[in-house]
Amino acid sequence: PPIYVITPTYARLVQKAELTRLLHTFLLVPALHWILVEDAPHKTSLVSNLLKSSGLSYTHLNMLTAPQRKLQEGEPNWLKPRGVEQRNEGLRWLREDRPSTGGASEQGVVYFADDDNTYSLQLFQEMRSTQKVSVWPVGLVGAMKYESPVVQGGQVVGFHTGWRPSRPFPVDMAGFAVSLRLLLERPEARFHGDAAQGFLESSLLQGLVTVDELEPRADNCTKVLVWHTRTEKPKLKREDVLQAQGQGSDPRVEN
Ligand code: UGA
Ligand code: MN
Repeated sequence: PPIYVITPTYARLVQKAELTRLLHTFLLVPALHWILVEDAPHKTSLVSNLLKSSGLSYTHLNMLTAPQRKLQEGEPNWLKPRGVEQRNEGLRWLREDRPSTGGASEQGVVYFADDDNTYSLQLFQEMRSTQKVSVWPVGLVGAMKYESPVVQGGQVVGFHTGWRPSRPFPVDMAGFAVSLRLLLERPEARFHGDAAQGFLESSLLQGLVTVDELEPRADNCTKVLVWHTRTEKPKLKREDVLQAQGQGSDPRVEN
């Protein structure tokens, strides 16, 4: 069955580098369909060209985050959740616009892959057999070495997390995958942009499963196969100096 990967993305200096790294991972995964959703009023040529020449199977969408929902320059990044309307747009496409090809067309697994994380190929093998919702550890997240479901006798019985353990599903976006069939059976299930900090993942998962139904992967959640890496914002001090002297980088060079 195919793996549908939904990725929200937005324009910034490192965007092309992030998307290049991501697509070079995805190229190595069999039967992967990438749903890339730009947080933008229209599709950009940078992303369009990247996808066209990628060799991947993909769907290119865009959905602008409503201005009142968008994090403003200088606001702390925990204030408002990011990528919400884009992930919901990806879900809408899967439910309404995905080409249906007969009997087996509801087979598939859906994964939400942010554009800055680091993904092992093994992760995609683990998630491919998802019946309802599968889960695994995520490295370098929540101010921990890793966060992870706690497994006993093949069942999830709790969560190893240092932050808001009271959350119904204390898992990062990168730590679970959902079967397409379940998402089609529950057409109301989606991410809630007004969810309190840390409750975004729970806002989707609560509409889909209970904790005892979660399917542990990655050797009963003992292996870290995805890392919540974050990319440093590039400094442009020299660029600004040269710009002021009329010697800035050529704007025709896409970067
Ligand atoms: C953490 C979680 O890992 C995310 O899944 C969650 O969405 C986020 O917190 C949150 O609080 O909403 P973090 O690394 O802080 O992630 O978030 P980013 O990587 O900056 O953003 C998550 C995704 O949304 C990325 O794919 C990013 O490209 C996209 N994004 C970010 C937008 O589409 N628009 C924006 O304005 C910002
Ligand atoms: Mn991130």
